[in-house]
Amino acid sequence: MTSIPAAAVGLRLSVHGLEVVLGSGRRSAHILKEVSFDVPTGQTVGLVGESGSGKSTLAKTLVGVHRATAGSIIFDGEEVTSAHGEQRRLLRRKIQLIPQDPYSSLDPKRTIGQTLAEAIDPVHARLKEHRPRIIELLTMVALPADAVDRYPHQFSGGQRQRVAIARALAAEPDLIIADEITSALDVSTQAEILDLFDRLRRELGLTVIFISHNLAVVRQVSDTVLVLFQGELVESGSVADIFAHPAHPYTAELLRSVPGGPGFTLSKERL
Ligand SMILES: Nc1ncnc2c1ncn2[C@@H]1O[C@H](COP(=O)(O)OP(=O)(O)O)[C@@H](O)[C@H]1O
Ligand SMILES: [Mg+2]
Repeated sequence: MTSIPAAAVGLRLSVHGLEVVLGSGRRSAHILKEVSFDVPTGQTVGLVGESGSGKSTLAKTLVGVHRATAGSIIFDGEEVTSAHGEQRRLLRRKIQLIPQDPYSSLDPKRTIGQTLAEAIDPVHARLKEHRPRIIELLTMVALPADAVDRYPHQFSGGQRQRVAIARALAAEPDLIIADEITSALDVSTQAEILDLFDRLRRELGLTVIFISHNLAVVRQVSDTVLVLFQGELVESGSVADIFAHPAHPYTAELLRSVPGGPGFTLSKERL
């Protein structure tokens, strides 16, 4: 474990020179190259980039699904890449990922209550004991209390994504990574889920990495934006700066592809 310099106080996450190579031998691929960025406490950092640019790989590396090949990930002053055992387990709970696909992310054999009980306390996942907290979490994501005893297949995609949000919140994380949380949903449900997530983000003062290919939405929810292109961060800065003066041609191209052009914004009601 490494301690951080005083200058880094106020940063929830600090990533330096992160390299990720996936696969092995001739089939190995260098997915992330020298990725460095900070996530200040209480802020939302938007991460944009075309499909295949490495956004999900970055998310999975931050939560420990993939191992960094080189570089450091400092979370609340602790080096995550070198943490082991109990320390690693505790750190992992503090960074929660809401995955893209609510159909594959929930265990079909477990009731919603069992899934949430385990998220609240993986060691003593007792449904009865945790019931009040489970009901509270369901209320936060506007699901009925009787969802506790039901199974994922009894819910729509949007409802499942509400469960996935509740599951992420159950661990009382200090950082939430939302990886294209609406891309598997139909358009009307997308607005509902974005609205819910944005409300929770503001009410709970969450620190968030918000991954999306929808620049209009990223613009609405983010304080700063990172642009990933073929595994490299080609641009980072405040939302206002990047939208007004994109420095990298790829960012300019992304902005041109926003429906209605770079000036387009969603109405606040839709968020
Ligand atoms: N487990 C893996 N092994 C090898 N390559 C992978 C693996 N997962 C993703 N990739 C590759 O990494 C690149 C980035 O993928 P991904 O991080 O999913 O991008 P994004 O989320 O931006 O669409 C893609 O070329 C993808 O094929
Ligand atoms: Mg992805």
